[in-house]
Amino acid sequence: MPVVTIAREGEIAVVTVDNPPVNALSQALRQGLWDAVDALDADPGVRAVVLICAGRTFIAGADVSEFGKPPQPPHLPDLVDHIESAATPWVAAIHGSALGGGFEVALGCRFRVALDSASVGLPEVTLGIVPGASGTVRTPRIAGIAAAVDLVTTGRPVKAPKARELGLIDAVVTGELRAAAVDFARAALDRPLPPPVSQRELTPPEPGFWDEREAAIARRARGDAAPLRALACLRKAAEAPFAEAMAFERATFLDLRGSDQAQALRAVFFAERAAPRPAALRDIAPLPLARIGVVGGGTMGAGIAAALRDAGLPVVLVERDDEAVARGIANLQRIFEGGVKRGKLAPDQAAARLAGVTGSTDYAALADMDLVIEAVFEEIGVKRAVFEELGRHCRPDAVLATNTSYLDPRLIADVVPDPGRFIGLHFFSPANVMRLLEIVPIPETRPEVLATGFALGRALGKIPVQAGICEGFIGNRILKRYRAAAEDLVRRGIAIAEVDAAMRGYGFAMGPFEAQDLGGLDIAFLQREGARAEGRDVPETLGDILVRAGRKGQKTGGGWYDYQPGDRTPHPSAEVAGLLAGQITPGEAMDRPAIAEHLVAQMAAEGEAIQAEGIAQSPSDIDLVEIHGYGFPRWRGGPMFAARKG
Ligand code: 3HC
Ligand code: NAI
Repeated sequence: MPVVTIAREGEIAVVTVDNPPVNALSQALRQGLWDAVDALDADPGVRAVVLICAGRTFIAGADVSEFGKPPQPPHLPDLVDHIESAATPWVAAIHGSALGGGFEVALGCRFRVALDSASVGLPEVTLGIVPGASGTVRTPRIAGIAAAVDLVTTGRPVKAPKARELGLIDAVVTGELRAAAVDFARAALDRPLPPPVSQRELTPPEPGFWDEREAAIARRARGDAAPLRALACLRKAAEAPFAEAMAFERATFLDLRGSDQAQALRAVFFAERAAPRPAALRDIAPLPLARIGVVGGGTMGAGIAAALRDAGLPVVLVERDDEAVARGIANLQRIFEGGVKRGKLAPDQAAARLAGVTGSTDYAALADMDLVIEAVFEEIGVKRAVFEELGRHCRPDAVLATNTSYLDPRLIADVVPDPGRFIGLHFFSPANVMRLLEIVPIPETRPEVLATGFALGRALGKIPVQAGICEGFIGNRILKRYRAAAEDLVRRGIAIAEVDAAMRGYGFAMGPFEAQDLGGLDIAFLQREGARAEGRDVPETLGDILVRAGRKGQKTGGGWYDYQPGDRTPHPSAEVAGLLAGQITPGEAMDRPAIAEHLVAQMAAEGEAIQAEGIAQSPSDIDLVEIHGYGFPRWRGGPMFAARKG
């Protein structure tokens, strides 16, 4: 089946691209489009051409899997020029997403029409590269410099109506795209044609614009190279002639394509797409997920319920008494109101999300649920009591899940009649925001129940990763090693603030000590105390000393650092220095990159152990856990990727 076919509707030719799954611009597709331009230019009966795609989307970009190989002609920038200089005007008819090279092909067309559900964008920086086929040179010629800078340096796509406002789309259409695009093309022939994008004038920005954007982007990028390189391309586009700017963009693209950062980001791109559909579950159908219950409406329960509502699923929320139900509903209301404040939800949408939650104190309300997720206190007795109730009240085929962070799920499951339907679903806080979902089967968990966990992950737009049973599963186990290694550096005489600065320098938003101050030191402390109470040998940590002195983090005015009331800026603390004095042997000197390298190596070493024990399915799963659950810089690829790169 050819990837490009041509049909005729009178004097309008319709070029259809069909290269599943996302019409990526493989060599065959580039050649097919090139040949289509030539064939249609040779046909005197054709007055305009509509370019449309089969399947779920318009051209979604260059074929990322070709990036490791030498570029093959026809090269994409040449193809975009070839379309632009065709004898008859081309009209891109966009549905789904026109991204990266796909959008650049559309920019080579004289017009762009799109369904109102479509989006367009230049996500190249998210792959560690810059647009390589005129995205930085043509986009500002239609949308202006400021909008082009936003689009290109964030990589965030925009919906068709917004793209229309920016001039990137000429018409937003509804109904049948092909017919609408053909009509548009016919009507366009009756009017004078606009100049091709490459010939349009570019208005230079205000003085100071470039410096201001450069500073803002550098702050946000935290070491991610592509956004600043993309800004340099846009500046060139504003200051140099078209051909020179094109050459500069192409050179930057080729330079970045093989960089460590681009390799890391490509690995993450493919890992993220593989994770929701593990090969081992390919032939196993998940169970239905229409009715979902949540037990516990605290931090996690409310967050999980919000995530379910965001995905359009109705929720029954069970709490221990009426007051707790009201608190749970209030927690949800706060979450949705936050969405309204940030402009993510309209007030009526927020109201509808809340209305889809039914609060109850009666387990009978869970009688016909397909899945129930427990998020009550992290105490084995409380959890077992909850699952006894669930066993009594839920359908015998309902999937029963725990959100426990550290407890052994087997000890919870053993009160459930038929533990084959039991599973751990470990969400991260805030559960409606964080994309990581650790899925923890117990030995009895049936394959279709495991598949249901992954189906839930997909439905919620999460990155689901299977984890085996051990203390902390994948993520919290690595976190424990990371924190212990960071404390060890402090014991050896490295300043707390120096460790944090090193990890920020590596690309984390926060260092390990600042992060603990934000989240609270007491959670891990209580967990260690619990283990000590069970008679396990858990050595005293530096954090324990601080908690015993009442320093639990920002919420108590201080933890590893001191804080002024109402201000989150950390200040090195004389009190902490005094409390820890006896624990510290001064003398160790390490520069910041060496500190970061050491701590990342410790994470990777724990990852190796996790992998060797079969707790993780693959090193890339471990990387996804760190990136999506713990703020590991995406452009570093995760600790396992970084360790492999050396
Ligand atoms: N190249 C190669 N494969 C791609 C691809 C691409 N650009 N985009 C998606 N795929 C593959 C995925 O790996 C996945 O493969 P699998 O089924 O074997 O796992 C399959 O297509 C489907 O992808 P999704 O699961 O992501 O499908 P969705 O329907 O959820 O999303 C999409 C569709 C919005 C188009 C999404 O795939 C996407 O965002 N793709 C990436 C787009 C992108 O980054 N384009 C820019 C590329 S760089 C470029 O164009 C450079 C140029 O300037 C020169
Ligand atoms: P929380 O204290 O905020 O909420 C717990 C809720 O459970 C409370 O609203 C309480 O009223 C309710 N509850 C207690 N006993 C109950 C019972 N018998 N029946 C019904 N409801 C009951 O706690 P949080 O932080 O939401 O944690 C819940 C679970 O999620 C714990 O297992 C925790 O380890 C886990 N978790 C917590 C994360 C976090 O960052 N807070 C992250 C991931 C998992």
